[in-house]
Amino acid sequence: MTDPRSSIEPMEVAVDTAVAEDLSQARGLGNEAYTSREFWQRERDSVLANTWAAIGFACDLQTPGHAVPVSFMELPLLMVRDHNGRARVFHNVCSHRGMQLVSEATETGLLIRCPYHRWGYDLNGQLKSTPNIGGMGVHEVQGFDCSQHGLREVRSEEFLGVVFVNLSGDAPPLGTHLHTVTERWQALAGGDFAGQLTPDVSTSGSLELTVNCNYKLAVENYCEAYHLPFVHPGLNSYSPLDQHYNLVVGAGASGQGTHTYDLERGSGSALPTFPGWDGERLKTGEYLSLYPNLLLGLQADHFFAIILMPEAPDLTRERLQFFYAGEQALGEQTKERRRGLHEAWSLVFSEDVSVVEGMQRGRGSPGFSGGVFSPVMDLPTHHFHRWLARSYQA
Ligand code: FES
Ligand SMILES: [Fe+2]
Repeated sequence: MTDPRSSIEPMEVAVDTAVAEDLSQARGLGNEAYTSREFWQRERDSVLANTWAAIGFACDLQTPGHAVPVSFMELPLLMVRDHNGRARVFHNVCSHRGMQLVSEATETGLLIRCPYHRWGYDLNGQLKSTPNIGGMGVHEVQGFDCSQHGLREVRSEEFLGVVFVNLSGDAPPLGTHLHTVTERWQALAGGDFAGQLTPDVSTSGSLELTVNCNYKLAVENYCEAYHLPFVHPGLNSYSPLDQHYNLVVGAGASGQGTHTYDLERGSGSALPTFPGWDGERLKTGEYLSLYPNLLLGLQADHFFAIILMPEAPDLTRERLQFFYAGEQALGEQTKERRRGLHEAWSLVFSEDVSVVEGMQRGRGSPGFSGGVFSPVMDLPTHHFHRWLARSYQA
């Protein structure tokens, strides 16, 4: 007979071994939180589903009718831009026989057509066409009500150029989730900095990395500057560790900042800065993990967002998108500077791969059970573990 506790044990074990509020007493999450497939699925359904998770970029959906399939922790989802210009997200599954509706990014036109029997849905998810449902050439049947068989929509919102979903449908509004971060950055970069963000859709505007680790290790590594001198010697030469500071921003974000961002660095014409950002603050750069799966970086002349797409307990796809301060920042004259930023950040993030993958391998060891935190350098990581522990317990 199956032990009824067996389905909940991994999550309890991992939380039991973690995460005292007092940093000096705390240990990190147990290995199961990074290695167990069962834990990963439960985390999806009971943690990530209950908050706002990032699944794509608004610029993935350039025009109405554009549809992009997304596999989010094995849930097939579909991002669509509707005729009002709004990004919508649906479960990517046909209501007839459960076929995956869209398998690659496409322009749908007026209807999203299922590849199996060609049922068609409009961009609001309404079922509009059921060819041959009543036999060859008979497209309607009595008693079949199309309005009952539309696509199932997932609650979604766009902000900071990112498409977020709340799978449970009952999280507080996205604005509440982001409030402490946006308040902080509006004070730094100007009240309308979010409205200024313009994605660079050229080849130097994005990058993608696949890393063999649990997505939480990518969050944790992004939280801290501690590893800078050893993992990023180049970055540390112009933005040294002693110029960095810890950030804990509200309940759902933490990371680090620097006082030595250098706007003059790089070749080619300088980029425009966000309009409300001036004085000494121009040397500030801030890097926040917005829980659960979004990494953000803000400097006076550029912003980036990294979406962590968990593909398996030990596999994560990282998608980075650069944004600049308005359309004028994307002209030919700034191309060299943007290319240089792309190159510099590509190096930094590729340097992180070996350490997040090394931590994943370490979590195969019975000789490790959560580890300890530096009382000075690991505050932001501890904050993330506390958030996770509270979410598991809830
Ligand atoms: S499964 Fe989609 S039309 Fe039949
Ligand atoms: Fe790093």
